[in-house]
Amino acid sequence: MTRLQAVAPTPDALVLAFPGNERIAFDIAMALGAELGLMEWRHFPDGESYVRLVTDPEHREVIVVATQQRPDAQFLPLVFLADVARELGARRVGLVAPYLAYLRQDRRFRRGEAVSSRSFGRLVSRAVDWLVTVDPHLHRLTSLAEVYDIPARAVDVAPLLGAWVRTHVTRPLVVGPDAESAQWVRVVAEAADAPFVVLDKTRHGDEEVTVTIPRDLPDTGHTAVLVDDIVSSGQTIIAAAHGLRAAGFAAPVSVIVHPLLAGDAFEEIARAGVARVVSCNTVAHPSNAIDVAPAIVAALRPLAVGEGPQPPPRRRRLPRRRRAGR
Ligand code: R5P
Repeated sequence: MTRLQAVAPTPDALVLAFPGNERIAFDIAMALGAELGLMEWRHFPDGESYVRLVTDPEHREVIVVATQQRPDAQFLPLVFLADVARELGARRVGLVAPYLAYLRQDRRFRRGEAVSSRSFGRLVSRAVDWLVTVDPHLHRLTSLAEVYDIPARAVDVAPLLGAWVRTHVTRPLVVGPDAESAQWVRVVAEAADAPFVVLDKTRHGDEEVTVTIPRDLPDTGHTAVLVDDIVSSGQTIIAAAHGLRAAGFAAPVSVIVHPLLAGDAFEEIARAGVARVVSCNTVAHPSNAIDVAPAIVAALRPLAVGEGPQPPPRRRRLPRRRRAGR
């Protein structure tokens, strides 16, 4: 992966890495010329979180790097960290969540279902002042602004995926496993200078997927490159790989943005005959080969460092007692 060089030092920015985000947070701090601060997060015996901000955040722009791979466990400690940073005098607290969770349930499909994308967006918007993420799963939503009411930037890394394919794959055929992937697949194929095809997926359950392969595929001498934004159970990639093998293609390569890879998904994908899985470092994983840190830094500079258009300062409500002048 590429290494970053500091360009314009921003010593008043303080970058904090949530556990598991150390590597990418270090790269971001380096590129900003900012300090990489220290935080502690541990659990009390009953499971509650203990969070301590060790580095002084007073008068500083705090940038918390916390990918939301396990949001149910990570969100409360994130709120505690943002709150203590502000209470100790941070100017603003921004969140870099290379993977942003809770975007798939963006609608009530069945009566009674919680629309978690809306609730999660509201909670994050209360906790931090701005947000930068990578290729959020916007399917029925058209932009993050529909569920976030803070300045929110989405970094598009499809061109980086395409560049990787162009330099690493011989005669690639870029394959999207479902209609939702068409938005990335087109850009990846263009950057890779390759043809593309989008398959037809039906999801029957969380871990049950079928994929239909079109009849008019380009010739099987191509190397199929399965491109998806999220790989969770791996069933989408596995079903697509089976279909492509049955259609006569050699073992495909899979290039993904967010390698959530729950449980044994990584091993199961290999067993399904995928030659190689390559991912972006939005979630730390051995398959990481595409570095998104420089693109994140370019997106967060205007928000955190004051280059380019600035978001308006956020007015925060004082605690009730202070408002009342007591
Ligand atoms: C679909 O909405 C996404 O783009 C991915 O295809 C999906 O999240 C993959 O999930 P899984 O790996 O569980 O099939």
